[in-house]
Amino acid sequence: MPSDFIDKISALKAQWPDNIAVQCFDPAYFATLSEGHKLRLQKCLNSGVENPDSEMGCYACQPSDFDDFKPFFARVLARHHKVAEDARHVNNWDLGSVEGLPEDGVLDIAKLGLPALSMRVRVGRNLRDFALPGSMTKDDRIRLENRMMGVFDRLIAMPEFGGAYYSLTPGNPCFIDDAKYDALVDAHIMFKRMDTDRYLIAAGIAADWPFGRGCYASADRELMIWVGEEDHLRIMCMKRGTVLNEVFDRLKLALETVESIEGMEFAYSADYGVVTSCPTNLGTGMRASLHIALPNLTADGTDAKAKAIARPLGLAVRGIGGEHTPIGADGTLDISPSARFCITEAEIVAALYKGIVLLKDAEAACGK
Ligand code: ARG
Repeated sequence: MPSDFIDKISALKAQWPDNIAVQCFDPAYFATLSEGHKLRLQKCLNSGVENPDSEMGCYACQPSDFDDFKPFFARVLARHHKVAEDARHVNNWDLGSVEGLPEDGVLDIAKLGLPALSMRVRVGRNLRDFALPGSMTKDDRIRLENRMMGVFDRLIAMPEFGGAYYSLTPGNPCFIDDAKYDALVDAHIMFKRMDTDRYLIAAGIAADWPFGRGCYASADRELMIWVGEEDHLRIMCMKRGTVLNEVFDRLKLALETVESIEGMEFAYSADYGVVTSCPTNLGTGMRASLHIALPNLTADGTDAKAKAIARPLGLAVRGIGGEHTPIGADGTLDISPSARFCITEAEIVAALYKGIVLLKDAEAACGK
């Protein structure tokens, strides 16, 4: 009931100052909405209301939610991404558009004296003609997976990709059992189970697990496409190496290949760029990261020093096991530019490169 909902949010506002969705919710704006739109916006906030410790506290549930509920989402986006409420996003993958990179455009960390590191770039993408994961029915999830399997057949037939699809959907011809699933999770190919994540459960995103969920991996296992996680698709390239362009360029090629196939129209917003479920990912949907061992900077057993150096550069530091994981025993950290919105794809990769330059120097100075 909308009135109970408003009472609940009003109570939470006083208690949870860091819950962005709760704080940005405006009852006066809500009152202007039609009954149907009220229910839709209420659904977007469900995760943050059920989990008041949320930092973001909302997810879009339809590709048009960011545009349809702009007065709400513009505030949310401004607050999280630290941009103006009328900020507009522009996508651009051209590294030539960014200042301060090596002349030849090759981002090779070997030239900085660093060894081969584990590099990863991922983007979230959603199809325009399906509800977003929070509002999909079980049938939608299965239809999406089946549509993607047609696309994967095409990639598997291409010499530059090859590989296989692995499905968690009972009865799917590519179904894999628990042992195989666990092995793929351990190999960082498949995503972790979603049905234990209280944020995704309350958002409706984890519903019908494991139906419609699966993962494509290329023959060299350096390109992965997840189906049915937080976004319809998470497309990622990972590789141990020194040249950042390799993962970045291959991801772009994979994206262009997928998007050129009929039925693969991705959801974009005219003002906000790539549409993702979580407002934290909107714009580029991109997360680029490197795993780097910083034993000197983490000698105290914490990532506090690395964080202090990385934060002013706009880099987030976390453990290598994923979101909310502790640092590795050998001082290995996952470093990633925090910005996804009102930054270009090229700027994200450049920020990662420049961050590594500075962290490497700080690590060396700390060892002296
Ligand atoms: N919904 C959670 C929160 O609001 C997580 C948000 C960011 N993480 C993510 N995987 N989208 O705190």
